[in-house]
Amino acid sequence: HGHGDGAAQRRPGELKGFVQEMRVVAMRLHTKDQAREGKMEESVLPIQEWRPSRADYLQFLVDSKAVYDYLEDHVAAEAAKGNALFAPFVNTGLERGPALAADIAWFRDELGFSVPEPSSAALQYQQYLSQLFATSPEAVLCHWYNFYFAHTAGGRMIGRNMENLLFSEGKYQRHFKFYEWDRDVKHILDEVRVKIDEAASAWPRDVKDKCLNETGLAFAYSGTILNNLAK
Ligand code: HEM
Repeated sequence: HGHGDGAAQRRPGELKGFVQEMRVVAMRLHTKDQAREGKMEESVLPIQEWRPSRADYLQFLVDSKAVYDYLEDHVAAEAAKGNALFAPFVNTGLERGPALAADIAWFRDELGFSVPEPSSAALQYQQYLSQLFATSPEAVLCHWYNFYFAHTAGGRMIGRNMENLLFSEGKYQRHFKFYEWDRDVKHILDEVRVKIDEAASAWPRDVKDKCLNETGLAFAYSGTILNNLAK
């Protein structure tokens, strides 16, 4: 490649819009056992072999809530300050904080668990996001996209497995609110895809690339939270 070729080259998915560009990069980072489009070698325990305890699952919910709360609070705060980038992403319907609060309260009130603090994995992700909000707000949108959309795809699959494994009998029976949205999540995702494409439509190529380049870190940080279950 000569000088300038990279910048002139079209990114995969670019013609369909920026969400498609982010999706292409994300799907490449899946392993073949996670998703059919996955390209990564299997390096982690396949989800069919995960055998976490109920306490591990509770920690996963607590850590997930710490990240969702962080995103939901900061996106709303930025929008309230007049940051137009984030205004479309307030109250999209994808918010997970309140659903997770109800699921965590169920562990405490119905099962008598004491609720743990968020682990260092969740706190480190918050810390990373906080500096990204300050230095590269467009790049936050890549984490936002991956964290919310992953949960509606692989996350729901994981939830079904966990419910079958740990929460299908007696007092432990539960269908978690984490996997329920106020309306058809497919419609919410379609609305949000349009908003992301609109938000990114005027970004220069280097800003888009910087955002796309966050995908690896979005996977790495999410992976540390999924490690609560992958055991
Ligand atoms: C989509 C599985 C982890 C981000 C998907 C899909 C599956 C899947 C089956 C649907 C593919 C399709 O549309 O046909 C999994 C499994 C995971 C995992 C089993 C872990 C065990 C992750 C992680 C991230 C992520 C860690 C990023 C943080 C995404 C995104 C999509 C997706 C952005 C596209 C969703 C959409 O287009 O609506 N995943 N995934 N996934 N995943 Fe994952």
